[in-house]
Amino acid sequence: MKVIIRKNSAESSLWTARYIAARIKEKAARTDEPFVIGLCTGSTPIETYAELIRMVKAGELSFKNVISFNMDEYVGLPVDHPESYHSFMHKYLFDQIDEPAENIHILDGNAPDPVKECADYEAAIVKAGGFDLFLGGIGEDGHIAFNEPFSSLQSRTRVVTLTQDTREVNSRFFDNDPSKVPAQAMSVGVATVLGAKEVVIMAYGSKKARAIAAAIEGPLSHYCTVSALQNHPAGIIVCDEAAAGELKVNSYRYFKAVEAAENA
Ligand code: GLP
Repeated sequence: MKVIIRKNSAESSLWTARYIAARIKEKAARTDEPFVIGLCTGSTPIETYAELIRMVKAGELSFKNVISFNMDEYVGLPVDHPESYHSFMHKYLFDQIDEPAENIHILDGNAPDPVKECADYEAAIVKAGGFDLFLGGIGEDGHIAFNEPFSSLQSRTRVVTLTQDTREVNSRFFDNDPSKVPAQAMSVGVATVLGAKEVVIMAYGSKKARAIAAAIEGPLSHYCTVSALQNHPAGIIVCDEAAAGELKVNSYRYFKAVEAAENA
């Protein structure tokens, strides 16, 4: 696992956006096959998306040959609800880049047959060629997508029940009322994320520090589902100093030294 530590979320997001852009361009230079990316919502990716939008508008990057799959969506929330992940993604990314509409995939949280919807999503990912890169954030308890503590590390896309903690954290978008946060979501599984050739996880702020320490230094455990990244051959965590704040001094120094040596 690689850990990139930057001063703040702005610098971390710049690193992440440049990394994604470089991967998209690298693939485009060697093949006509689309770049398949997993995307996330939340406050964490907003600055990264803003930089990707800037690059597209400046003509430095194109999403014309990118296929995306979002990692999760609430169950039962109307698609046009301002807090649906459909609305979020259009507002903060899709409406401002050149990704063709037919390349955009987001789980339908109102599908009449949720089991089929999730199975079809997995099949569509396979049909697209599998993920080149999965970009994710984490919850305060270390959940990735909506894979709450005790989700199987072998899980695939399915309907999940949110923990009370997650509903309370996410209630900031729902009039601070946890009961207004949908009780269920559809989410890609931990194994779906780990199936990507590369996984980039972003975490900013001291509220993510315990999860980051558990993910990097703790045991591989379904208690902190992002710890599954330890089993991925190309996992990167990008965090700011605050989110790195609970790492052991020696771990922190190690990751800084590795980066310095690789950039020397
Ligand atoms: C939700 C999403 C996760 C996201 C997390 C963190 O629980 N399902 O995918 O990573 O929130 O959100 P934020 O980036 O706002 O801290």
